[in-house]
Amino acid sequence: MLSYVIEGNNRIEGIVKASGSKNAALPIIATAILNPEPVTFYNIPDIEDTRITLKILKLLGCKVTVNSGKITISSKQMNNKTIPKELMHKLRSTVVLAGAILGRFKEATFSFPGGCNIGKRPIDLHLKAFKSLGVEIEEKEDYIHCRAKKELIGTKIKLDFPSVGATENIILASVYCKGVTHILNAAKEPEIQDLAKCLNKMGAKVYGAGTSRITICGVKKLHKADYKIMTDRIEVGTLLCSAAITKGKIKIENANPQHLLNVLYELKNIGCDISITQNSITLKAPKKLKGTNIETRPYPGFPTDMQPIIGAVLCKANGKSIIKENIFENRFKYAQDLKKMGADIIFDNDKNQIEIIGENHLQGNTVSSADLRGGAALVLAGLSASGTTIVENAEYILRGYENLEQKLKTLGANIKLCEKH
Ligand code: EPZ
Repeated sequence: MLSYVIEGNNRIEGIVKASGSKNAALPIIATAILNPEPVTFYNIPDIEDTRITLKILKLLGCKVTVNSGKITISSKQMNNKTIPKELMHKLRSTVVLAGAILGRFKEATFSFPGGCNIGKRPIDLHLKAFKSLGVEIEEKEDYIHCRAKKELIGTKIKLDFPSVGATENIILASVYCKGVTHILNAAKEPEIQDLAKCLNKMGAKVYGAGTSRITICGVKKLHKADYKIMTDRIEVGTLLCSAAITKGKIKIENANPQHLLNVLYELKNIGCDISITQNSITLKAPKKLKGTNIETRPYPGFPTDMQPIIGAVLCKANGKSIIKENIFENRFKYAQDLKKMGADIIFDNDKNQIEIIGENHLQGNTVSSADLRGGAALVLAGLSASGTTIVENAEYILRGYENLEQKLKTLGANIKLCEKH
């Protein structure tokens, strides 16, 4: 088991570049299945989640070459339409590969991804959408077999909830559909806009990404293309918060402020000085942070992935804060570990919210990541705590943050990734 060992009380100061977006990389890698012509992607982060996704593409028969952040994929010889169950359970977001396999081959077999530590995470909206596109679905021995009689037929799909994954899956499955597909109540996240831009560069016709109504006009074929994916906005938010929690100052050189407006608003609200250019964000933390109330919502609301991160920061704020989680049912595990470090936090499970009585002096302790963003929150708490903090199960954090240890070290942190026996 891997752990981060952190000597706290160091200010985070300096200039850093964030990596490519994990949540854009996964659906964009899936476009290589739709497109039989060679495709090349740049700025793909080298993290566990992208490694597993590329491993599945190889198992499906794709040719994949990786050269640091540059990845070339050819799916011409792809011959397998079944996503292996064990890998699907390891990485639930591979469910978007199903939409791409279905779009290209009119059939796909995969298993229920299974829940994870932040919630049940069903895929009912994905399956309901596939059925609307004329796909027959049969569940047998915990595999889901999808098959269209002849081809997928464009239609109007109104999502009950603006699900990011379901929106991505419908777009991928609809690229070659007969006619036109309209998605109503679509998710508006920037990662969906990145996916649409990538597909359109390959010759697809996806319109309205970033709004709640997306239109996909079916095309006959795609052509070869290369594409550089967007910066990871959640990593940017995490790095900004590492300076906020340690009274530091940070400039992130390749960040798009438009992707984080709500997060920047809240950071200003709690006293941080923020300045932006078209592709950079600079944050200077105040001596004393102020408390605030946060509610997570679908984009452009405050992102659920930043909820644990801002939760750690608000432990240091002067005054009370309330954080309400509206997207996932189980995303406060990290707060139990913050309490072990001295944070004064009250849980209200009925309302799915926590109340943080601020101005806590955080004391280093041994804590444990229960999920990706909760683990990152504990690292930030360790940076600002006095003494040594050991964050166990660091594997969770390595899934979504590329070279986090190196980045924080260059910014003045005393942090080490260790094999913990
Ligand atoms: C994506 O997950 C992200 N993952 C998540 O980031 C992110 O938290 C989430 O979107 C919300 O922004 C990737 O992009 C790989 P959803 P996804 O479908 O697509 C319910 C991280 O830390 N729902 O928008 O799975 C679901 O249970 C990860 O980087 C259904 O009920 O999220 C959840 O409560 C964590 N039925 C809510 O919708 C469905 O069929 C939002 O889920 C699908 C979803």
